[in-house]
Amino acid sequence: MITSIYITPAGQTQKDDVQSILLVDDFVEHLELMTEILEGHGFRVVASTDANAVLARLDELCPDIAVLDVMMPIMNGYELCRRLKAHFGKRYFPVILVTGLSQLDDKLTGLEAGADDFFSKPFNTKEVTAKIRSLLRLKMLQDELDHTEDMIFTLATAVEAKDNYTRGHSERVSVLSGRMARIIGLAEKEITNIRKGGILHDIGKIGVHEDILHKKNALTGEELAVIRRHPVTGTEICKPLRTLRHIMPAIRHHHERWDGLGYPDALSGDAIPLMGQIVGIADSFDAMVSIRPYRAGLSVEESLRVMQDEVNAGQWNPVLLNRFINIIKSGQVEIHALYGMK
Ligand SMILES: [Fe+2]
Repeated sequence: MITSIYITPAGQTQKDDVQSILLVDDFVEHLELMTEILEGHGFRVVASTDANAVLARLDELCPDIAVLDVMMPIMNGYELCRRLKAHFGKRYFPVILVTGLSQLDDKLTGLEAGADDFFSKPFNTKEVTAKIRSLLRLKMLQDELDHTEDMIFTLATAVEAKDNYTRGHSERVSVLSGRMARIIGLAEKEITNIRKGGILHDIGKIGVHEDILHKKNALTGEELAVIRRHPVTGTEICKPLRTLRHIMPAIRHHHERWDGLGYPDALSGDAIPLMGQIVGIADSFDAMVSIRPYRAGLSVEESLRVMQDEVNAGQWNPVLLNRFINIIKSGQVEIHALYGMK
């Protein structure tokens, strides 16, 4: 008999590769029948008639997918679906809604609540298990992608943290670039991509030896060539991950120049992707304000003056750089807080 929360008996739950299905239905007989079927197919089942009890213990129950009855008295399936999706946030968590009805309106309400699939009562066991397996496969792929993306971001931060001079650089470039993107009116998705690009823009420096990165004297031509490879190395590192393809312009093109004298592709003018231009400006500003092995940091005012001179020399898009200077000067970015200045 299923009471508050039924969990597949221990022993069957110990293996890491057993996937866990959350079932919520106010009709106990239905819950028991589903539990029996799904346990028979080798799944770990967490079953309950109580949506609130499930929500209170979600992190501990750790389900991989949910199958929810729509018609429940205290909290209906749509609401529970919405709350589950909100709980898991950006992580993919598939939800199937079980409806006694097959009207289009119910499906539309379900889709609005974030449901991934539906089936109707009375259900066909083969159809139910096929839908569950299909969504679980999708979740596994998504989890792997998320994991790889997380690893790349962790790697970028870890590499930077080894170095006193660059610690926090990418985070500041990310904040500055994102702020600039928002103020010039880019779409929310683009702003998110630019912020991610700020974090990863220098990931290719993993391939540059520390002796070169920390060198106090002028770099030789050969060393300069090694440094200048980092946008391409960064692109190669992130290329296999399709989820990062939208931020590639930040990684590859943050060292291009408006006059075409930059690297790696010597693009000029509007041919330089806007994301690359924005991250390039933020990167250069942060590098000037920060202390480096070969010099003390410049003041904000001095850095902006240098960048203004660089516009005249052809390095930057004049319109974009003027916007950046205005954004900093008008206090739209909390520069002093960002740099821990008094
Ligand atoms: Fe760079």
